[in-house]
Amino acid sequence: MRFSKLVLETRSIRRFKQSVRLSRENIFKFVDSARLAPNAANLQVLRFSAVTSENNCERIFPALKWAGYLEEWTGPEEGEKPAAYIVIHAPDEEKPYTKMDVGIAAAYIVLSAREAGYGSCIIMSFDCGIISEAVDTPENYRPQLVIALGVSGEEVILETALKDIRYWRDELGIHHVPKLKLEEIIT
Ligand SMILES: Cc1cc2nc3c(=O)[nH]c(=O)nc-3n(C[C@H](O)[C@H](O)[C@H](O)COP(=O)(O)O)c2cc1C
Repeated sequence: MRFSKLVLETRSIRRFKQSVRLSRENIFKFVDSARLAPNAANLQVLRFSAVTSENNCERIFPALKWAGYLEEWTGPEEGEKPAAYIVIHAPDEEKPYTKMDVGIAAAYIVLSAREAGYGSCIIMSFDCGIISEAVDTPENYRPQLVIALGVSGEEVILETALKDIRYWRDELGIHHVPKLKLEEIIT
């Protein structure tokens, strides 16, 4: 797929086809993209947990906070929940570059997932205690991001932001994501 199309299609997905499961091989491919990503001084300090079994997905799900702007929506319902997760861990002792490395790794993962036909959502609002217990967080590491994965079960439309940058859902349940114009972000 052309990169420009991949970027357009890599939207945050929050409703999935829960019954379509991902194999660990799928997930490892996405993590492999993060392995090859740029990172500060090539220190490669990040670690990744793959969660694919239904049992473990059930343990992760209650820790996640979805779509802050959609106040009425309590998150994916049964049948729409993610089919897998990747948790990105970074060392407890945070360096100035840590969060940048985490962001770049997450971007590589979601692009790689989309290329393989899967939707994703990067989640930073989560209960760290639940996530740390549910996956093997290495000693002296802390979960930084959870990436929810699965076959998309929703339609997402990009639109030009006028005044409001908040994403919203229309009466058909279609998710709209307003983006600023190019000339507004180039200084
Ligand atoms: C660092 C980061 C943290 C995010 N945390 C959450 C989150 O906790 N919950 C959630 O539902 N979405 C989260 N998102 C998804 C954003 O809301 C989403 O990227 C944004 O609304 C733009 O939509 P788009 O990804 O389709 O362009 C996060 C995204 C990023 C990059």
